[in-house]
Amino acid sequence: MAKQTIQDFLRKKTAGEKITMLTAYDYPFAKIVDEAGIDAILVGDSLGMVVQGLDNTLPVTMDEMIYHTKMVARAASRALVIGDMPFMSYQAGINEAVLNAGRFLKEAGASAIKVEGGAEIAPQIKAMTKSDIPVMAHIGLTPQSIHRMGGYKVQGKTEESAKRLIEEARIVEDAGACALFVEAIPSSLAKQITEAISIPTIGIGAGPDCDGQILVLHDVIGLFERFVPKFVKQYANIKSDALNAVKAYKDEVDKGLFPGASHGFK
Ligand code: KIV
Repeated sequence: MAKQTIQDFLRKKTAGEKITMLTAYDYPFAKIVDEAGIDAILVGDSLGMVVQGLDNTLPVTMDEMIYHTKMVARAASRALVIGDMPFMSYQAGINEAVLNAGRFLKEAGASAIKVEGGAEIAPQIKAMTKSDIPVMAHIGLTPQSIHRMGGYKVQGKTEESAKRLIEEARIVEDAGACALFVEAIPSSLAKQITEAISIPTIGIGAGPDCDGQILVLHDVIGLFERFVPKFVKQYANIKSDALNAVKAYKDEVDKGLFPGASHGFK
């Protein structure tokens, strides 16, 4: 199976075919996502919340992102792997941004990176793109801006903020971004943005008219229970399956039923 490329995603947008993405953070789950035929795996800094048990994504480090991206890249034979740049790995300066982005391709095996923000990080997007690092931008609800936004809130609800987001989309496209994530914005605005730019939009909580969709894997399979955003659809409950399996094991050990004869050596 051929590895997916940025060009495949551009072709899909033109052909009106949907692009599928999910997050993953380690080898076994990335293997499942890859085998299911998902087009791209984002190693999201959401791992801070769903894997590390943090309250938000801000403390996640570059070294942690590289560690997780390496595991995912080993598992992905078809899906394109995208490394998510953590808070303060690209905001403070262009050189640092390019060097950190480069680590995802050089050390971790990713084929693209993602950054949160619009006009304010256009110089970084331009510099990374010039260095042959494919960049995906992310606007709308940007979780690294939690303190400025005052929580995880839907963005672009007023006419002025919607206009601003359309402008930001055009700015990141002009800076060289090869795709745009749009998170938690009204569906009608996501449609307008999708029609306004020629790079694919990938929606999360942004309605059905984006060129592709992404969700956090742990939300989809019921492994993150602290809160479930309105836009999430849960397709399985792995937490309860795993809990039942572990309880059954404990019960059998307690009762002397495990290990049985077939689990031992002669
Ligand atoms: O970190 C992440 O998982 C993300 C997605 C939710 C888009 O940024």
